[in-house]
Amino acid sequence: MRVTRITIFGILSISLFLNFTRAQKPVYLDVKQPIEKRVEQALSLMTLDEKVAMCHAQSKFSSKGVPRLGIPEVWTDDGPHGIREEVFWDKWSGAGWTNDSCTAFPALTSLAASFNPQMALLYGKTIGEEARYRNKNVLLGPGVNIYRTPLNGRNFEYMGEDPYLSSRIVVPYVQGVQQNGVAACVKHFALNNQEADRMSVDVEVSDRALHEIYLPAFKAAVEEGKAWAIMGSYNQFRGVHCCHNDLLLNKILKTDWKFDGVVISDWGGVHNTDQAVNNGLDLEMGTSTNGLTTDGTSPYSEYYLANPYLRGLKSGKYSESVLNDKVRRILRLIFRTTMSADHPFGKFVSPEHSEASRKIAEEGIVLLKNNKQFFPIPVGKYQKIAVIGENATRSLVIGGGSSSLKVAYEVSPLKGLIQKYGKDHITFSKGYASGENEYNKEVGSQQNADSLINAAVATAKDADVVLFIGGLNKNHFQDSEGADRKSMDLPFGQDKLIAALLKANKNVAVILLSGNAVSMPWVNEVPAIVQAWYLGSEAGNAIANVLSGEVNPSGKLPFSFPKKLDDNAAISFGQISYPGLDGKEEYKDDILVGYRWFDTKKITPLFAFGYGLSYTTFEYGKITTDKKLYTPDETVKVSFTLKNTGKVDGAEATQVYVSEPKATVMRPVKELKAFKKVFLKAGETQTIELEIKVKDMAFYNETTQSWTVEPGEFVLRNAASSNDVKSSVSIQIK
Ligand code: GLC
Repeated sequence: MRVTRITIFGILSISLFLNFTRAQKPVYLDVKQPIEKRVEQALSLMTLDEKVAMCHAQSKFSSKGVPRLGIPEVWTDDGPHGIREEVFWDKWSGAGWTNDSCTAFPALTSLAASFNPQMALLYGKTIGEEARYRNKNVLLGPGVNIYRTPLNGRNFEYMGEDPYLSSRIVVPYVQGVQQNGVAACVKHFALNNQEADRMSVDVEVSDRALHEIYLPAFKAAVEEGKAWAIMGSYNQFRGVHCCHNDLLLNKILKTDWKFDGVVISDWGGVHNTDQAVNNGLDLEMGTSTNGLTTDGTSPYSEYYLANPYLRGLKSGKYSESVLNDKVRRILRLIFRTTMSADHPFGKFVSPEHSEASRKIAEEGIVLLKNNKQFFPIPVGKYQKIAVIGENATRSLVIGGGSSSLKVAYEVSPLKGLIQKYGKDHITFSKGYASGENEYNKEVGSQQNADSLINAAVATAKDADVVLFIGGLNKNHFQDSEGADRKSMDLPFGQDKLIAALLKANKNVAVILLSGNAVSMPWVNEVPAIVQAWYLGSEAGNAIANVLSGEVNPSGKLPFSFPKKLDDNAAISFGQISYPGLDGKEEYKDDILVGYRWFDTKKITPLFAFGYGLSYTTFEYGKITTDKKLYTPDETVKVSFTLKNTGKVDGAEATQVYVSEPKATVMRPVKELKAFKKVFLKAGETQTIELEIKVKDMAFYNETTQSWTVEPGEFVLRNAASSNDVKSSVSIQIK
């Protein structure tokens, strides 16, 4: 009897305890509860100190959670094309972990060059898996700043000169990353289009150019991609730093675009407590550092949103409701990521990641010139292939600033070519030397340039063909954060070397690894040119597959290559327009960026936006629309046939540009409003169908501060590039 009573009592007390704990189990810990409920309850349990502590860094890349409530820290990490190695708590330098060597993906100019949103989804999903695996809940990327000049040191990290192309690529990238329970942090918002004077240059730009050129990719990332984080940029806009700029953050981002995520400052981008509190910043990182080298002096407790903020709250200077909005956003981020119910474990450096990286790289490589079918070079066609150039062997994943990576492996172009053609058929000579990649130093060649050229010429002389592999690199003043390039020329004596090689052997192809346009004084002398970007861990395999014909190149340029630097719009307006004068900069090029400028000023570029060749040929049919007259809320259905008229299968990024010839405001000659990458077997014909919403043909009306579609004629053109229009059709808007 006694035993029974004890047993019954025992069962009762356990179930009572369980009910008690269940009844007391805080909603915010219950992953099945709606996120907004979890946010509200967690917020209601937090003290003032805990709330303020959540709004600023506690280390180089992390910010506080609420240990008392079981709410984890926020861990961010670079970068847009790979997960940066672990650094020390308070230092930029690597911490020497042994399990953080990642897969390097192609830099984003290469992804944009694929003109393939499916590649962007694959990219986001895959890099998100690596971030997830490394327990980062915020990936500091992608960057979508527009390519305004060929000198910007960070163009390689972005998606080119066209806002529509950038918009179509950034959306699936963000969706892919966030499928992993990792927040994408789209950067740098906004108008960070150069590295020169980046921490303070005060940009003035018209509302039209702001909304038509510089904001669309961010707007798409937020409204369509549902990005969970945005990074403010270093520069100023109309006199106020973008990390705490009321117009950009409170008005445009959080009110107009209904952004419900976290605004994170760039590292060292915060300069003022009042503005940081009231102008829409949520999370302050890296104060008193320069985002690259200085490790910062101010202790975390003295960050602008730390004790100064707490003192202001306690004195009544700042309202707790504004603080609560910041904390809600950060809690929401945590519940969407680390504390979400369904985030996967992620994956790191897997064969699938290598394959994804290689596929994306292969689809981004752009064939710019190919006289007399120089390419492809099938295996076995030649006995002796000379590979010349430092970029054939130099690591291009290291350096360049915050996007620098410690990788599990990196297949160099030389290694890829040897694996493809066999070491007996490949000879190599360095040709030029750029010296080690050192921050803030213009590093030139340390080795005797002439002896390098002589050795390269000797190697080239008795080869069947020469593959010159050069371009830029991640050295300071090249494709690197923290400074812009000083000219558009190829550095380190490459033009002289190419000329010498051509004297020794006329069969010299130039393969450029870079993230920016370069001058090509040899463009008429060489039979073939390939723009091959920074392709990451699989670079050598992707390049070898394309040059050998195993893969038919299908990339197209995401930015124009001008014939000379002052053909570029921003540069042509002088110093006030770029890089700025006495700290101020006016975007006098306005809405005429890239091909918009070349079309309007009738300047022929060296290579046009949207241009790229294939090993096959394509024939475009006449463009037609489903009807002639549309109302502003309708969608135009465009169609045309595309035929692969060559002998090999291939893919073509077809493009449709829209013009409003009789607009009442100045408009570019034409603007990209649709594209589709189509895979066609040799001889195959497909009917391409694209849709363009009439409202997307609008211009930004500065008077009404909204978008306007004027009644009247619009012209739609299908094209293989911005300067290769195939046909046109007119429609009327009521
Ligand atoms: C850097 C960069 C930014 C990067 C951050 C953290 O300065 O501007 O893109 O994510 O600081 O490294």
